[in-house]
Amino acid sequence: MLLVSAPILGVPEKAALSKVIDSGWLTMGERVRAFEQAFADMHGAQDCVAVGSCTAALHLILHALGIGPGDEVLVPSLTFVATANAVLYVGATPVFVDIESADVPLMSLAEAEARCTPRTKAVILVHFAGYLANREQWQRFARARGLHIVEDAAHAPGLREVGTFGVAAAFSFYGNKNMTTAEGGAVIARDPDLLDRIRQARGHGMTTGTHQRLNSRTPQYDVTMLGFNYRMDEMRAAIGLVQLQNLQEWNEIRRILVVLYRRLIADHCPAVTVPFSEPRTSAYHIMPVLLPRYAKRQDVIDELRTQGIQTTIHYPPVHQMTLYRELYPGTNLPRTQDFAQRELTIPLHPQITSPVAEAVVSALATALKSCAQTGTAA
Ligand SMILES: Cc1ncc(COP(=O)(O)O)c(C=O)c1O
Repeated sequence: MLLVSAPILGVPEKAALSKVIDSGWLTMGERVRAFEQAFADMHGAQDCVAVGSCTAALHLILHALGIGPGDEVLVPSLTFVATANAVLYVGATPVFVDIESADVPLMSLAEAEARCTPRTKAVILVHFAGYLANREQWQRFARARGLHIVEDAAHAPGLREVGTFGVAAAFSFYGNKNMTTAEGGAVIARDPDLLDRIRQARGHGMTTGTHQRLNSRTPQYDVTMLGFNYRMDEMRAAIGLVQLQNLQEWNEIRRILVVLYRRLIADHCPAVTVPFSEPRTSAYHIMPVLLPRYAKRQDVIDELRTQGIQTTIHYPPVHQMTLYRELYPGTNLPRTQDFAQRELTIPLHPQITSPVAEAVVSALATALKSCAQTGTAA
């Protein structure tokens, strides 16, 4: 089965893991620190905090900003549920905002304006599929209303612009991301005080970590805030250090594959549209396409599956999940809903070759032809 995404792991990762085991120090040691510094360097930041997941990163950011009950945070619904969950974790209210259009499925600035209230404290921008939101426009919007911008950069590691939109950015190193540590995440925040609060909250609110105490004269520590256990361990950091060395090259291969896919789809499946038709900075995390309205998506999925090609959907809208429907009934986001009904994500990862991309598009063309012949509707 050709998977939508697949991690690239090999001898260097195995060797790095082996060294951790030989070292006898398994968590929050030198490798975590080295990974933090290397990840920050790649993004032109002074420092960053490595954590257990992007979900933890988002939670820590909102927590450190003091966002809580009574506050509202603007979020897209076209995202993974973790974006909105992080807002609920701090007791605030996620306010779902529609996308701009089917071509630009990023949070709409006009819709965000319309949903702002005196309680709005922050906006979480998701760089959907790796494509960056318009930084200057969002900064103007946030400045005018005194809002914090938080980036959910799960799809966009490796771009210098990421982490410069607002107060902080959250990254994911989950197994299907552009680089992986199996589970893992990171926070970039340019304000050192904010980053310090996040670092402390990551480890139970303790004033020093175990590794720091090893190198200090006193075993004492204090707890000065309610924190969490959102630590990253040395095995993950060791894998991350290896993966990071390849990230730029892998992102470039993704870019080339997306150019190829766009050309092949235009030639062989003209009824299929590919979002982000205008050039835009991207880490090319996934390859979303929009099926024509006459196509029955499940039939297309089934046809591709019989040809050994996995596809997925990004995303079933968060506001339509049972939990969120029950919490916030009556939310209606027509552009998000239409996009989510027609979207299909085809495989994109650096191990895909040109003939494989051609086979995917040819299978898509065959599936669409049979939909057109049977006249099935979505
Ligand atoms: C947009 C987005 N935000 C947040 C997350 C959560 O990441 P993690 O699994 O590292 O907590 C994901 C993961 O899929 C994601 O795609």
